[in-house]
Amino acid sequence: MSQFPKLRLRRLRQSKNTLALWQETTLTVDDLIAPLFVVTGKGIKNPIEALPGQFQFSVDEVVKEVTLLDSLGIKAVLLFGIPSDKDAIGSASWQDDGIVQQVTRAIKKACPALIVIADLCFCEYTDHGHCGVLDGSSVDNDKTLENTRLQALSLAAAGVDVIAPSGMMDGVVSVIRQALDNEKFTQTGIMAYSAKFASSFYGPFREAVNSTPSFGDRKSYQMNIGNRREAMREIEADIQEGADMIMVKPALSFLDVIHEARQQFDCPIVAYNVSGEYSMIKFAAEKGLIDGNAMMREVLLSMKRAGADAIITYFAKEMAESF
Ligand code: PBG
Repeated sequence: MSQFPKLRLRRLRQSKNTLALWQETTLTVDDLIAPLFVVTGKGIKNPIEALPGQFQFSVDEVVKEVTLLDSLGIKAVLLFGIPSDKDAIGSASWQDDGIVQQVTRAIKKACPALIVIADLCFCEYTDHGHCGVLDGSSVDNDKTLENTRLQALSLAAAGVDVIAPSGMMDGVVSVIRQALDNEKFTQTGIMAYSAKFASSFYGPFREAVNSTPSFGDRKSYQMNIGNRREAMREIEADIQEGADMIMVKPALSFLDVIHEARQQFDCPIVAYNVSGEYSMIKFAAEKGLIDGNAMMREVLLSMKRAGADAIITYFAKEMAESF
């Protein structure tokens, strides 16, 4: 009978209990960060067509939503502001009564323990949709950093726990860290969008926040999708500049980058399961082509398995509800 196998890995798969016991990677509610879109006004909960199940919330409505997320065990939210007024430099992003600043104060009042992370960028606030101050047709790195300092301090003063710069400007982490420390915001953290690729998966997000660039693209600041080694250089620079955690974005088409970062770095790694990754599952599920819930679990688990410690995902609430 020597032709039969001695090694029988199927023993590990014989029952639900053996499967559960030997599962190497698991997903828990502690892994999830919920992104939220916030707008000025009152009583607003606008469905976002490109992101089924996601909304633009006004301050009062977002408080109800975070109270629910908090009760589901979610530990952190990531805020994106949609201002009522845009200008060439994005000055609405650093006003004391800015949308994210207002929402942060309201959330901290309602759910003091919930970790508030704020995306720090300018594309939602500029009338041209680029992520900083323009010099001709390109984004001026250092002029953008000047305004970054203003936005970071304004967010910290409003009570944001963690600032997440997503504009891919060189030196952004050290500028924020220095500004925060000078003003005694030593406990405000930095989650760096270190390896953020110039991806086509951001389309639905740009629709949600109306930030599609009015000309050109973001390829002079976001990373070339073909580059993994360069991603490691970006991550290393951000850690040296003082980032508390680093991010790889998008996640699904960059699992190798997450894995490589896990091998090389010991700091927390966050995967961003971006808008296009979410929408394609939602729309395929709506068409009845796939089992949306199972696919959600599979892609989120793949990000953990690749080495992520936490996942920013529009599925956060749905996943938390289905544990
Ligand atoms: C802002 C920003 C973007 C996303 C997060 N922060 C858009 C972009 O870079 O164009 C994308 C998130 C998503 O697609 O879910 N710079």
